[in-house]
Amino acid sequence: MYWDRRFLSLRTWGSRGFSPRKIGAVTSAFSIRPARTGDVAAIKKLVAPLAERRILMAKETVAYYESLQEFRIAESSAGEVIGCGALHVMWEDLAEVRTLAADDNWRGKGVGHVLVQQLLEDARALGVARVFCLTFEVDFFKRHGFEVMADQTAVDPQVYSELLRSHDEGVAEFLDLARVKPNTLGNTRMIKIL
Ligand SMILES: CC(C)(COP(=O)(O)OP(=O)(O)OC[C@H]1O[C@@H](n2cnc3c(N)ncnc32)[C@H](O)[C@@H]1OP(=O)(O)O)[C@@H](O)C(=O)NCCC(=O)NCCS
Repeated sequence: MYWDRRFLSLRTWGSRGFSPRKIGAVTSAFSIRPARTGDVAAIKKLVAPLAERRILMAKETVAYYESLQEFRIAESSAGEVIGCGALHVMWEDLAEVRTLAADDNWRGKGVGHVLVQQLLEDARALGVARVFCLTFEVDFFKRHGFEVMADQTAVDPQVYSELLRSHDEGVAEFLDLARVKPNTLGNTRMIKIL
């Protein structure tokens, strides 16, 4: 499905009270689709500068291939990968939005918004009830219904101990384990009930 900025402005942003002046000219269109193996290089290119600034977590290339089915890609009408995002299931009712990134040249044009909408839709389809994220983009996620987590009560002690068995770094970040604290400094832990 293609999204154009006019549609976003009239139907989505308009209804949420965004200023039409922020929208600018209708110049661009993009689509959201499941990731393919050929997208891994482009995903890495999107993530690399953000990982360098410790905004996103750097991963080995093999990890992107292994988690490829979790990814959605935003593609411009010219066929360029301009954004990505993934939904990682952690537990029966819990998943994480991760590796959400929009190309610098496409920031503020709704790419992140449509990716998050799609990932939340994916979460609902999978039967997930709550979606976690760890981010510096607090306002962006608040606009999508995420709330800052006050504490660890998002999982009960039994699930917590099961999650401790995971080798996934994102799960460790969710659990706020000491060994990943250097990765998460300054990030905000947020959750959305679907
Ligand atoms: C988070 C991120 C993916 C958002 O991508 P984006 O494509 O710029 O997002 P959007 O364009 O949908 O929204 C960005 C802002 O532009 C505004 N905006 C977007 N489209 C708009 C439109 N059509 N009209 C008016 N305003 C618009 C929104 O109000 C939003 O403001 P907010 O941040 O205060 O909520 C991007 O900033 C990014 O790559 N960040 C680095 C990685 C990161 O932190 N990821 C999150 C952790 S996984």
